[in-house]
Amino acid sequence: SAAGPLKDITSRYVGSAVAAQPLSSEADYRSVLTREFDSVTPENEMKWAVVEPNRGQFNWSGADAIVNYARQNGKSVRGHTLVWHSQYPGWLNNLGSGELRSVVQQHINTEMGRYRGRIRAWDVVNEMFNEDGSRRQSIFQQRMGDSYVADAFRWARAADPSAKLYINDYNTEGINAKSNALYNLVRSLKQQGVPIDGVGIQTHLSTQYGFPTSLRQNIERLAALGVDIAITEADVRIPLPADSNKLNTQASYFRQIWDACHAVPRCVEFTTWGFTDRHSWVPGTFPGEGAACLYDTNLRPKPAYTRLNP
Ligand code: XIL
Repeated sequence: SAAGPLKDITSRYVGSAVAAQPLSSEADYRSVLTREFDSVTPENEMKWAVVEPNRGQFNWSGADAIVNYARQNGKSVRGHTLVWHSQYPGWLNNLGSGELRSVVQQHINTEMGRYRGRIRAWDVVNEMFNEDGSRRQSIFQQRMGDSYVADAFRWARAADPSAKLYINDYNTEGINAKSNALYNLVRSLKQQGVPIDGVGIQTHLSTQYGFPTSLRQNIERLAALGVDIAITEADVRIPLPADSNKLNTQASYFRQIWDACHAVPRCVEFTTWGFTDRHSWVPGTFPGEGAACLYDTNLRPKPAYTRLNP
């Protein structure tokens, strides 16, 4: 049986993405979250399309619910996410470059300002790279140019000086073209004095593609730039149906992520993208794959949980 809750067996923040809806309506979901984790990341509730679906019309209900839960239960919050090519409101598409620039600054000010002092870390820029390491041609890149990244971090620092500011991406676990580009950008931002504090490595893995064995080395090289590292969205999907073999492989992947983070002092957070298969984005996004979380649909710990907390 477990030594104690996950959050008590490590000095790292142990987090999960959470959704406001089950947090308010499912007592078992809420109680496992509260018992095991000490950090929460709103899964969708802080995304621009959710908080400002129409220009000047705000909906903070889900974000407020999660931040209030965190305050009442002593949890740390990871804010997610401010500048991202996905889940942004359609009205942005109608803006020219000068107006988009001021709207992005205002968005950062408004959202970070609302929760000033209550968010430990923010994913300021999310998923800005293509797989080959080139910059994704998002509306931000196209209309604001390369400097949108440095600008976003400067605006973010001004909006909440107490928050750690992160760049976050996926398929940047191992050493590859994309993580090389991320490394080079962070080095250049640091050299220019841009206020960036950390790198988030999402860590959406699949047992079908093999474990990225250079994860630890990649965390080490990023940390050597003088930034913190966070595992921000870990999940390990398996081809359905699950069986005990696949669940054991999954367990070893989770353990390797955990160990890689614990091998580097500046890896400060281990967060999973949801903690239960009852509410996971995986089956809806990757047809034929699922069962990617530490707990099953009935909130029973899976082999992956036991491997982290034997
Ligand atoms: C996902 C959510 O889990 C889904 O509910 C939503 O439909 C789409 O976005 N990278 C990220 C997260 O940074 O915001 C994404 O979250 C998963 C991939």
